[in-house]
Amino acid sequence: MKGVILAGGSGSRLHPLTAVTNKHLLPVYNKPLIYFPIEKLVEAGVTDILIVTSGEYMSHFTSLLDNGSGLGARLRYAVQLAPNGLADALRLAKDFAQGEKIIMVLGDNVFEDSLKEPVQAFQKMKGAAIFLKEHPEARDYGVVEMKDGKVIDIEEKPVAPKSNWCAVGIYMYNPDVFDVIDTLKPSKRGEYEITDVNRVYLERGELSYFKLKGEWFDCGNFYWLLKANLFVAKKYHNFDSGNA
Ligand code: G1P
Repeated sequence: MKGVILAGGSGSRLHPLTAVTNKHLLPVYNKPLIYFPIEKLVEAGVTDILIVTSGEYMSHFTSLLDNGSGLGARLRYAVQLAPNGLADALRLAKDFAQGEKIIMVLGDNVFEDSLKEPVQAFQKMKGAAIFLKEHPEARDYGVVEMKDGKVIDIEEKPVAPKSNWCAVGIYMYNPDVFDVIDTLKPSKRGEYEITDVNRVYLERGELSYFKLKGEWFDCGNFYWLLKANLFVAKKYHNFDSGNA
């Protein structure tokens, strides 16, 4: 399976931290944010990884990560010329994927769960798989509606969420995802939405899910970036016990 990490966007909610660099290079306690998804993929055995970012700070990524060998990965890079959405960014991975299955992780997501078992399970699965986590502020995310243990609807940033179950920034796709992306139209905010990709698979009856058991943080704003910092400091470094 090939990995794709999306690391574009303007990071406007984190301004001025993002005034002179990219959100995914900001620190989460002792590492740049982008290290977390890379390490999760490598731990799951996915070492061929494409990083998609905007042209503006591409050189920051290559200076930091180089070919990825320092993290046990083989990294490639692609430039998303305009911020046209997550599905549009995934489109750039078509040649890189070479007909293999794909796991895509949003570069600003920090999470505890290992991806090893889901990656193995997905080898035999059709369509797409998403990862779900309950969250108090569901309206900021993709939200699913469930019935009898099945996903029956998925909406992007709904005004009135039908549940607290959010689609976190981890997705697995079969190679036909690139055909699905080609059928999409831009959303009201003018972007090709990953939620629309997932809805196509839902309508085909080919959308599976895994539930995350551990913590999950989307570090897109100051509050959740801070929460992720505190979590990593405490869990992995026992920081609040005087062990700094
Ligand atoms: C994106 C997706 C959303 C998902 C979230 C997870 O939102 O569009 O469906 O729930 O990532 O982090 P964004 O954070 O780009 O607004």
